[in-house]
Amino acid sequence: MSAGIDAAERERVVGLVFGFFPAQVVRTLAGLGVPDAIGDGSLGVEQLAGQTATHPDALARLLRAACGLDLVARTPDGAYTLTPGGQLLRTGRPGSIGNLAQLFCHDTVWRSWGELEWSVRTGEPSFEKITGRSSFAYFAEHPDLNAVFTEAMAEGTRTAAAGIVAACDLTGVTTLADIGGGNGTLLAAFLDAHPDLQGILFDSPSGATATVVDERCEIVTGDFFQEVPAADAHVVKSVVHDWDDEHCVAILSRIRAAMPAHGVLFLVEPILRDDPAALADQRILLMSDLNMLVCLGGRERTREQFAGLLSAAGLALTGVTPAGGSGYSVLRAVPA
Ligand SMILES: C[S@@+](CC[C@H](N)C(=O)[O-])C[C@H]1O[C@@H](n2cnc3c(N)ncnc32)[C@H](O)[C@@H]1O
Repeated sequence: MSAGIDAAERERVVGLVFGFFPAQVVRTLAGLGVPDAIGDGSLGVEQLAGQTATHPDALARLLRAACGLDLVARTPDGAYTLTPGGQLLRTGRPGSIGNLAQLFCHDTVWRSWGELEWSVRTGEPSFEKITGRSSFAYFAEHPDLNAVFTEAMAEGTRTAAAGIVAACDLTGVTTLADIGGGNGTLLAAFLDAHPDLQGILFDSPSGATATVVDERCEIVTGDFFQEVPAADAHVVKSVVHDWDDEHCVAILSRIRAAMPAHGVLFLVEPILRDDPAALADQRILLMSDLNMLVCLGGRERTREQFAGLLSAAGLALTGVTPAGGSGYSVLRAVPA
C-alpha cells in the first residue's frame, strides 16, 4: 500500500462499495426457496438444483458465496446445511425475515435505490419515477408483491410486538384501533395480552389482509386521509415514517377527530437521534430514512419532529417509552 493511504480505511470503504452484493445473495436464496428446501436437513447441489429449477454450477457458486456470508455451511461430503442466520430465511418460522429480504431487494425497490441520486437532486421518491405509481398504489395493483409487502411488515412487527404492547398503558381502554394495521400482527398481540380488549383493524382495502386476529376484532377498510374509526385508544405503527410532514399531519388530524376527550394515541416509530456522536449507532435507521425517501417520500424523525407533527394535529406529546429492545419507541399523545 502506498505511503499515506490508510489500508484499513480503504478496505472499509471498498466494503461499502460492494455492500449491495450480499443483499442480492440473501434475496436470491430466499426467492429460489433454498432455505425452505434445505430446512433442518442437508442437501447436495444436484438435488437442490432440481428442487429449485436452477443451473447446478451457478447454484453451487451462489451457495459457496452464501457459505462466505455464513448463511449456509458445506458438510465434509459436499452437502449444504443452513446456519442459524440461514434458518431466518425459512418461511413461517419465528423471527423469519425471508419476505423482508424479498421486499427490499425487489426489482422496484432495487431500481428505486439505483435512482437515489435523482431523489437527492429532486427530493422526490424515485419509485414513482420508475413505476408511475406511488408504492401503495403499485402494491395494490400487484397482489403477489402486496402479499410479500404485508408479510414483510408483519415480520418486522412480530419480534417487536411484545415490547410495544408492554410500553402501552391501556388502563381504562375498552377499544383499541390499529390505524394502518396491515395483517393485524400487532393488534393480535394487544388482544392476546388484554383478554377484555376489543380491537379494530383499520387499513386500506388492499392492506387489511387480516390473517391473525380473532372474534374480538372488527376489520374496517378505508382511507386514513378521509376518516378513521373512533376508539378509546389508537395505535399507529410504522405509518408516519411513510409520509412527508403534510400527509402525516393529515393522518394524525383524522385520528384526532376520531378520539374522544379521554382518548389516547400511541405512535410507534424509531426515534432518530440526529447527533453526530450517535449516527454510527443508527446505521439501519439512517438507511431506512433514505429508503423512505426513494420509495415513499417519507422520512425517519427526531423526537422534536414527532412532537411538532402531533402539535400541528391538535395533540400533545405526554411521554416516550422505548419498546423493549426493539428499536421502536412508543410516543403517547392526548388531545391538546
Ligand atoms: C409500513 S406499513 C405498516 C403496517 C403495520 N402498522 C406494521 O407496522 O406492521 C403501512 C400501512 O399503511 C397502510 N396504508 C397506506 N395508505 C393507506 C391509506 N390511505 N389508508 C389506510 N391505510 C393505508 C398500508 O396498507 C400498510 O398496511
